[in-house]
Amino acid sequence: MTQVLIAYASKMGSTKEIADAIGVELLRLGVSADVRDVANVTTLDGYDTVVLGSAVYAGRWRPEASRFVKRHAPALAARRVWLFESGWVGKRPETITPSPFAAKWAGRIGAPPPTVFGGRLDPKLATGPIDRLLAKRMPGDARDWDEILAWTRTLAVALTADREEHR
Ligand SMILES: Cc1cc2nc3c(=O)[nH]c(=O)nc-3n(C[C@H](O)[C@H](O)[C@H](O)COP(=O)(O)O)c2cc1C
Repeated sequence: MTQVLIAYASKMGSTKEIADAIGVELLRLGVSADVRDVANVTTLDGYDTVVLGSAVYAGRWRPEASRFVKRHAPALAARRVWLFESGWVGKRPETITPSPFAAKWAGRIGAPPPTVFGGRLDPKLATGPIDRLLAKRMPGDARDWDEILAWTRTLAVALTADREEHR
């Protein structure tokens, strides 16, 4: 039985909401999944697949997500892993590329490069002065739920194909 861990690193909540949506969709498709804050995950025992997502701040993943990859690199390399990150807000950029560090880690653990989703900036949810300033200057929600759910369905299809192969 496939057991998926969806681990997220989120400061203002929008990446957590993406992780929750992925979890709900996987469960709807019959895939067993737990959604957890990456800071609270101490072991990958019991999971054969990991979906790891982080918000991007100043071009980098959240520190707890980076720590998680470094600490669990061998365990991640032994599992099926998909990565995503969430960041850009406003007009969709013409070229969307994952943050360089995350792309490098993906290579190290044998995972495909992170998929990049849009993010959200909301002054009401911003915590520190810099976050609030930026959120006031360019508020918006660029998360495309159809895109996120379509991506989730490709994961479910790959997991089902794996299951059939190992029967
Ligand atoms: C101070 C600050 C710096 C940010 N830097 C980046 C960045 O370098 N690249 C990017 O794509 N998004 C950047 N963002 C946008 C956030 O990644 C986006 O708001 C994201 O959805 C936040 O996720 P969270 O709500 O899970 O914390 C930044 C936001 C703030 C407030």
